Amino acid sequence: MYPPLVYLNGEFLPPDRAKVSAFDRGFVFADGVYEVIPAYGGRLFRLPQHLARLDNSLAGIRLSNPLTAHDWQAVFTRLVEAGGVEDQSVYLQVTRGPAERDHAFPKQITPTVFAYSQPLKYPEPAQLAAGVAAITVPDIRWQRCDIKAIALLPNVLMRQQATEQGAAEAILLRDGRMTEGSASNIFLVLKGTLVTPPKGPFILPGVTRDLALELARAHGLAREERAVTESELRSADELMLSSSTKELLPITHLDGKPVGSGKPGPLHARLHALYQDYIRDFRAGKVE
Ligand code: PDD
Repeated sequence: MYPPLVYLNGEFLPPDRAKVSAFDRGFVFADGVYEVIPAYGGRLFRLPQHLARLDNSLAGIRLSNPLTAHDWQAVFTRLVEAGGVEDQSVYLQVTRGPAERDHAFPKQITPTVFAYSQPLKYPEPAQLAAGVAAITVPDIRWQRCDIKAIALLPNVLMRQQATEQGAAEAILLRDGRMTEGSASNIFLVLKGTLVTPPKGPFILPGVTRDLALELARAHGLAREERAVTESELRSADELMLSSSTKELLPITHLDGKPVGSGKPGPLHARLHALYQDYIRDFRAGKVE
């Protein structure tokens, strides 16, 4: 179902009135970037971090930010208010706008700015209780995965492969190392230590990933940001994925084999509880 209201280029419109040129470079070249921001109890979660990442993505494709942080916040707030239910996720996308087709940038651009909000789809309680399955696939993406680009065809194909095999996520392998999921970051537990790959050009710097590491640090959980080999991935005691919409979800089967005991593990339970406490405090206005 479409949301009741969308934002497009300065206007708030019903979705059937939101129209974009067929010559938009987002449509023709996937020349644009996006963000997904959760809102809990009507409050935008980790907004400065999401806007900072948007700035990085825009800088990565050499497009200036068409809106100030203040204006973005006003747009999101209005969309979230129109959404009506408590917890939502805001989607925003900026493209290089309509132009005659030419790979090189047009001289004059009018970026297309689009945003909407929809109810946040939490993981099913059964998925949290039992964990989900994942498969491994070769990471077929480009070399700037730190840019949250709308060009998601590799991610779409990799996730579809997972779906067709009854799995919730595809875990990506590049040159014998794990990078991330098709739409998530991945954490392992190895001998009681939480391990996740470091930031760099081959992963998206996940906002949920950063908060999970922040919470682990604040509560004295052993953690490491370092490269993860395929064999470490296959021998992990626990696996979990992180994203703004899935929060922290345990992965209990990898390529059809159980991860550790085949059940969600103690470190997931601990980190997930810390994450839920944080969201509860956020809703209450006790933390930012
Ligand atoms: N995706 N890595 C990739 C490739 C992603 O697409 C995402 C999120 C993440 C996690 O980032 P964050 O914790 O900031 O949500 C990592 C969003 C949710 C999406 O495309 O819908």
